[in-house]
Amino acid sequence: LPPLRIALAGLGTVGTGVIRLLEANGAMVAARAGRDMRIVAVSARERSRDRGIDLSRYDWHDDMTEMPAREDVDAVVELVGGSDGPALTLARRTLGAGKSLVTANKAMVAHHGLDLAELAAQNGAALKFEAAVAGGIPVVKGLREGAAANAIEQIYGILNGTSNFILSAMEDTGADFDEMLASAQERGFAEADPTFDIEGVDAAHKLAILAAIAFGCRIDFASVETQGISRVRAADIRQAATLGFAIRLIGMADTEEQEGMTKLLQRVRPCLVPKDHPLAAVDGPTNAVVTEGNFSGRLLFQGAGAGDGPTASAVVADLIDLARGEAGGETSAPFSVPVADLKAMPPADP
Ligand code: HSE
Repeated sequence: LPPLRIALAGLGTVGTGVIRLLEANGAMVAARAGRDMRIVAVSARERSRDRGIDLSRYDWHDDMTEMPAREDVDAVVELVGGSDGPALTLARRTLGAGKSLVTANKAMVAHHGLDLAELAAQNGAALKFEAAVAGGIPVVKGLREGAAANAIEQIYGILNGTSNFILSAMEDTGADFDEMLASAQERGFAEADPTFDIEGVDAAHKLAILAAIAFGCRIDFASVETQGISRVRAADIRQAATLGFAIRLIGMADTEEQEGMTKLLQRVRPCLVPKDHPLAAVDGPTNAVVTEGNFSGRLLFQGAGAGDGPTASAVVADLIDLARGEAGGETSAPFSVPVADLKAMPPADP
């Protein structure tokens, strides 16, 4: 088979991670995909920044939104971020051209995922976003494939590494909030604007995507009740520990029968987690997702929710699916059923 020819938009932590992963594991990835992966074009905000990788072998584009029109591009990887703006233009042009899109952009999928999935279906393209939820943890695949035979009764977990790093460091060392936030930013897993991390918005993006897959419902980011960790103090953590609890930022979604209808309840908030619950032991920038399936029972997905290697690993796993010939359109149903079949599930009264 000919190589899968890729355009890569965004050369930050994850984008350079994808290049490094393909350099290190290229032969193995090609053997598993059944064909080579070849990056042909790249784009980023700054051309000259030293990223410690050789970009000279790729065609450079100042305007990333031109790349989908290239005849020698089969798939586009979007690692730019932002729910709208150039990332969304790039996504629409890619899918509109009948080419597949791999994205790590949880904000864009939470806000526009349904429209993008429709556009993909109309044009026979695939929309893939494993890297948008919980970094390196294959939770989208786990739900869509591993748990595909189950009715999911509940899904919940730790969906923001920055918040978890801050809360667990405050617990372990008594360090203060601002110092730990600065440390998360230095280590590269906090968002450029950390407000989304500490106010629960990043976790809410991911929860809305997971709920759509788990319950076969339309993504409803607007109705996620969201509260972050910015008001959690060291004293809260100390007093919770006295009572046998850890404080974790938890995103939780389930359904409720109300007024003869199935309604969706989605919440992100700091929760008291009993010390003997597996989520209380999740420390650092780790994510963990628990699902309760009616035949599988409880499943726990845990691992690095951010960072170059883990997130690149999820991006390349999606590229391998494309290279293996995952068809686009309705057959690739990014939310586990075709977008037209996703149920409209009104928000529950809390
Ligand atoms: N800022 C995010 C986090 C990165 O801390 O989890 C991955 O979405």
